[in-house]
Amino acid sequence: MRVFLTGATGYVGSAVLDAFVRAGHQVTALVRHSSTASDAPSRPGVEAIVGDLLNPASYVAAAATCDALVHTAFESTARGVSVDRVAVEALMDVAARVTAAGRRVSVIYTSSASVLGQTRGGPADEAAIPEPPAALAWRPAHEAAVLESAARSGARALIVRPGIVYGGAQGVIGELLQAAANGIIRVIGDGQNRWPSIYDRDLAELYVRLASHADAEGVFHATDHADERVDDIVEAIVRHARTRPDVRHVPFPEARLKLGPYADAVALDQVVRAPRSRAIGWAPSLHSITGNVARLTEEFRSAQAAA
Ligand SMILES: NC(=O)c1ccc[n+]([C@@H]2O[C@H](COP(=O)([O-])OP(=O)(O)OC[C@H]3O[C@@H](n4cnc5c(N)ncnc54)[C@H](OP(=O)(O)O)[C@@H]3O)[C@@H](O)[C@H]2O)c1
Repeated sequence: MRVFLTGATGYVGSAVLDAFVRAGHQVTALVRHSSTASDAPSRPGVEAIVGDLLNPASYVAAAATCDALVHTAFESTARGVSVDRVAVEALMDVAARVTAAGRRVSVIYTSSASVLGQTRGGPADEAAIPEPPAALAWRPAHEAAVLESAARSGARALIVRPGIVYGGAQGVIGELLQAAANGIIRVIGDGQNRWPSIYDRDLAELYVRLASHADAEGVFHATDHADERVDDIVEAIVRHARTRPDVRHVPFPEARLKLGPYADAVALDQVVRAPRSRAIGWAPSLHSITGNVARLTEEFRSAQAAA
């Protein structure tokens, strides 16, 4: 399969890139900088093209040669949402044109389990109606744009909603491991909220499985079903730190003042299930953060040493 991938230099995208290459697929990766592109030929199975999400002319021709369009990039700036909208429309347009010409294209859009909001009424599966916190209020509309465009064109659309990703040195758990190494961990709120989480390599395997599964369409959650409380994750990290760090709980209103709507997303209490992903044979290899902290701490240290 030929795969067009955005965000290949990012946390989620780099794991997804590895998984597609490991599975023997050819990947065309959109990168922003020519220095990254010039590294790519040394890696079999990967061709990098230089471009920017905001400039579809820089990537639509390359995307149109591929069978799966996988969007994991996200620009974390004030214009990030509108950049994402431009990319979604451009990729869905490519998918529609190629599908109309007789080759059915798949599009995988990366959303987030956070769009579900607090899961007060019990565990949320893929049929749950999103009730996003303010910071993610825009996201259901982007999911819908992908699904509706595919319904019109006949392309195949897949929405992946990962929980908090762990593994390596990046992401929220990477930040907690770094904070522990620095000697102080700050927890937003009382730490009793539960985070849905997923190991980066398991998440990436889901993308490969979805791209390869011709019948799969719609929304797919990616979580390890551990339902771990933030305080339990932090305590496990503290136990494995070389020197015991301080743990401070920052009252939610104070965190909200400092961090804005991001605090709402981190403070969510969520129990998220992934029955549709499991139904296509996807089975995460890691089942919790707390049960794997020794391994994750090792991964964190070696990723940092390699950086
Ligand atoms: N990390 C998590 O725990 C998590 C959990 C759930 C959902 N998600 C979702 O997954 C997606 C990716 O998150 P992430 O953690 O992987 O983010 P990340 O590490 O910040 O990666 C972002 C990627 O997007 C690329 N990018 C940014 N702006 C671009 C532009 N204008 N044109 C082309 N490429 C651009 C970046 O390229 P450069 O290297 O050039 O900056 C990088 O490759 C997001 O939608 C996020 O909401 C993440």
